Amino acid sequence: MKKRVLSGIRATGKLHLGNYLGAVKGMLDLQNNNQYETFYMVADAHTITTPYLPEELKNNRLEVIIDYLAAGLDPEKSIIFFQSDVSEHFELAFYFSSVTTIARIQHLPTYKDKVKQYPQHNTMALLNYPILMAADILIYKAQLVPVGIDQEPHLEVTREIARKMNQLYDTDFPEPVRFVTQGEYIPSLTGEGKMSKTVEGSYINLTDDFETIRKKIRSVPTASVVGKEITPGIKTLFTLAELFIPNQVGGFKKLFNQGKLKFVDLKDSLAQAIYKELQPIQEKRKEITVNKKYLKQMIENSANCARQIAQQTLKEVKEKIGLTSNF
Ligand code: TRP
Repeated sequence: MKKRVLSGIRATGKLHLGNYLGAVKGMLDLQNNNQYETFYMVADAHTITTPYLPEELKNNRLEVIIDYLAAGLDPEKSIIFFQSDVSEHFELAFYFSSVTTIARIQHLPTYKDKVKQYPQHNTMALLNYPILMAADILIYKAQLVPVGIDQEPHLEVTREIARKMNQLYDTDFPEPVRFVTQGEYIPSLTGEGKMSKTVEGSYINLTDDFETIRKKIRSVPTASVVGKEITPGIKTLFTLAELFIPNQVGGFKKLFNQGKLKFVDLKDSLAQAIYKELQPIQEKRKEITVNKKYLKQMIENSANCARQIAQQTLKEVKEKIGLTSNF
């Protein structure tokens, strides 16, 4: 039997370079390997765990699907769907919440960060975020999850839930592991933290044109450099250079160590290489965007496929945990 893969991205806006390198590239690799059956969703329900506007969510969830297709996810090979179209995820999440303590979730760095960011929105939905993610994965009994390294704590929770369910109720959930890509951690253009949609000035969108990319890359702080000190901004540039200009990065590093590097040369080479990778995705995006009818049909079909499998798992779980009767 083929191994199953599941991944998802929250619908907070168009995808950025960090999503592309950390998640989408891994999703593509696995889709194009016929040993795997791939499920890729837009985690639209996860989006409402932090403050949002309904009208924006309506647009953003579709933008993510369009980005997926533009980047090369293929409905002939993958099941591409909206999380909220398969409501079985929420039901399973509730059952999973019965084997998860509040303390376990409260200690997660991801949870703490969000509470710090939105102190007025420390909601039950936010607390349940990792449990819903576990349900997203385990409802398909997926074994492999292509996501960035920041999601590792959530995968740990997922494995714990799988183990607990199997021990207590004799279910057969796998313990899923992360599929690691080369770009698992893309630093912010500001030099601080990771590239993130919610931090202004930190990211490059997949839809940015060349001028925008060049401007953003040029703004990565390198000015305060004294000698050969690797500041966070420089680290960001070299991380991106390893990924986009692997053949030139050695030369640039050598110049840097000799104190002779003109940062604008590194920056402009990098901007060109990034644009070269994004341009075909942007072309494809235009084609997809005009074909809304096709999109609608595709999304409906995929949700039906996903739902069938999800319902099967849910049926097994209800039986095992005692939510059926012996008439
Ligand atoms: N938490 C993930 C992120 O922020 C998104 C996500 C939701 C996800 N459900 C998932 C990722 C299931 C992988 C599998 O990136």
